[in-house]
Amino acid sequence: MTGPATGLGGVLEFPPGFVWGAATAAYQVEGAASADGKGPSVWDTFSHAPGNVRGGDTGDVACDSYHRYREDVALMASLGLNSYRFSISWPRVQPGGRGAAHQPGLDYYRALLDSLGEHGIAATATLYHWDLPQQLQDDGGWAARDTAARFAEYAAICADALGDRVARWITLNEPQVVSNNGYRQGSHAPGLRDADAAAAATHHLLLAHGLAAQALRDRRAAEVGITLDMHPVRVLSGNGVPGHLEEARLITDAALNGLYLQPLLHGRYPVQAPAALLPPAALIADGDLDTISQPLDFLGINYYSPVFLRAGDPADLRRNEEAARCAVPGVVEYLPERLERTTMGWLVDASALHELLLDVSKQAPGLPLYITENGRAAEDYVNPDGEVNDVERVRYLRAHLEAAARAIKDGAGLTGYFVWSLLDNFEWAWGYQKRFGIVFVDFGTQRRIPKSSARFYSDVVRANAVPLLPGA
Ligand code: FCB
Repeated sequence: MTGPATGLGGVLEFPPGFVWGAATAAYQVEGAASADGKGPSVWDTFSHAPGNVRGGDTGDVACDSYHRYREDVALMASLGLNSYRFSISWPRVQPGGRGAAHQPGLDYYRALLDSLGEHGIAATATLYHWDLPQQLQDDGGWAARDTAARFAEYAAICADALGDRVARWITLNEPQVVSNNGYRQGSHAPGLRDADAAAAATHHLLLAHGLAAQALRDRRAAEVGITLDMHPVRVLSGNGVPGHLEEARLITDAALNGLYLQPLLHGRYPVQAPAALLPPAALIADGDLDTISQPLDFLGINYYSPVFLRAGDPADLRRNEEAARCAVPGVVEYLPERLERTTMGWLVDASALHELLLDVSKQAPGLPLYITENGRAAEDYVNPDGEVNDVERVRYLRAHLEAAARAIKDGAGLTGYFVWSLLDNFEWAWGYQKRFGIVFVDFGTQRRIPKSSARFYSDVVRANAVPLLPGA
């Protein structure tokens, strides 16, 4: 383990050709919400309705990346990144979600791709990062099967117009969050609290992925994959895991991860998942699961935090405990005291990333994996010297990159890493209050200030290695 001198404890290298990038999403950074004929999306509608987003924030302007994409691409080039994960706004390309392509929308993405190409940055394009055309929502959204067919049409338009410049297509971002937060809990657009609609959305999102993957492949798209949010479920107990905790672990894992991973990898919904989450059989047409489980070129994993379970009484919760979503008697979820929490309240646990990568590689041997999002929110501010010294984020990235490098050495098929996020941006229901960027955005002036974490990440990218702390 030798490499560039770090003055610390040596380095851990990544394999040659490792993909290094940063991620964003259209609604979170573009702004220009109705520019050049863009149609409204569910997030335009949702964010404009009072009470849905903290502080009444909307993505109307966001980071104004629609107009400042050249500056953002130059910023990535200056950091040495070799890929950019961005998302395409469906209502820019089809303002009402169906019918002919809207040329100005495609022109914008074409210009972005040209700019990336000029800097040698490979495009990783997500087709759906939550901004469904409002018109399709009015017709039932993801609870309606037809939306999956519309999505395949939209994918075909994008492949025809942009496919020659896209290295990697991601069909959907985090279908679990779309179904759960958008349709079951209502904390995200479209803000429904409807368990049946959520279960239907799960199936239609997966079907949309499969149909779009076919459309992309028919058009000779390069690589095609999907991004899932994955949540390792950890049970910490003394010696051995008691039966009810193991049962709870299996149910929780099926609800959060298996509900999406199993149909994609094996063409079946997990039997362990709670019945209320499973799409009813009547919605699953012959051949759907074959469409959904066609081979992936890669799997994108978004990792932020694990879920912890322990024995407890849901009717008499202790500090740091909450009711378990698996509803197994005598089991609670909890936030271990010893782990740091971010300003989102999310646990910081890099060792769970190592475990997750090995676990997924075991379930899908040979499938290339990308970490398509990983990062943390922190209370960032510009200091009197004009700098943003985000030590917490540097620490977070170092630990997670080290966990990723160790997972590769232990056999995980990890081929790339995208930090969330390039820029501070519109963090959904939290608005602009939560900053995830490695680049600070002053939303009043749109000035970009690379944080300490940008410099740290850039050093890692250029060395293709992560520096270790002494004694590590
Ligand atoms: C993920 C989303 C991404 C961002 C991060 C913090 O769930 O995919 O858009 O908001 O969380």
